[in-house]
Amino acid sequence: MPVVQWSPALLLGLFTVCSCVDEECIVGIVGHPVLLPCYPHTDLLRLQNVTLEWREEGEVVLKAEWKQDGDVLVWSLNSASIANNALHTGNLSLSLPRVSPKEDQRVYSLVMTPAENGSLLLCSRCLKTAG
Ligand SMILES: *[C@@H]1O[C@H](CO)[C@@H](O)[C@H](O)[C@H]1NC(C)=O
Ligand SMILES: *[C@@H]1O[C@H](CO)[C@@H](O)[C@H](O)[C@H]1NC(C)=O
Ligand SMILES: *[C@@H]1O[C@H](CO)[C@@H](O)[C@H](O)[C@H]1NC(C)=O
Repeated sequence: MPVVQWSPALLLGLFTVCSCVDEECIVGIVGHPVLLPCYPHTDLLRLQNVTLEWREEGEVVLKAEWKQDGDVLVWSLNSASIANNALHTGNLSLSLPRVSPKEDQRVYSLVMTPAENGSLLLCSRCLKTAG
């Protein structure tokens, strides 16, 4: 696997390719699972020591850390999950097992924190509840 330095050019590239920061609302049925889709077009696979955080209105609900040796550490609240191989497939969607009425109009965002300096917004999704 090629080693890629985390350069300003790469950061810029991530910003410019990410057209995913639109706030389309996903409708979730109360008591049912919902998927907040996120397929950022970034070359995440080539990065090492990547940490991703899904945040609900700024509060971390899931944190996944991909180590250089291939280990994945995942921590989450309320059984929120993403696919274990998310970094490889680019499918960083967040699964919530049960939508609660209090989650209406909440904004979920996925940020990547590759370096001490940077956190990059990869996706932002709002959730509307129904039912
Ligand atoms: C990833 O983390 C390991 C262990 O902390 C470190 O040795 C390595 O240099 C890191 N790689 C990058 C690209 O930051
Ligand atoms: C993305 O991953 C989620 C599970 O995390 C899965 O439910 C969904 O079907 C996947 N999307 C695609 C297009 O494979
Ligand atoms: C972090 O940001 C500071 C100021 O913006 C910059 O001087 C420094 O080089 C950056 N470090 C990295 C690792 O990007």
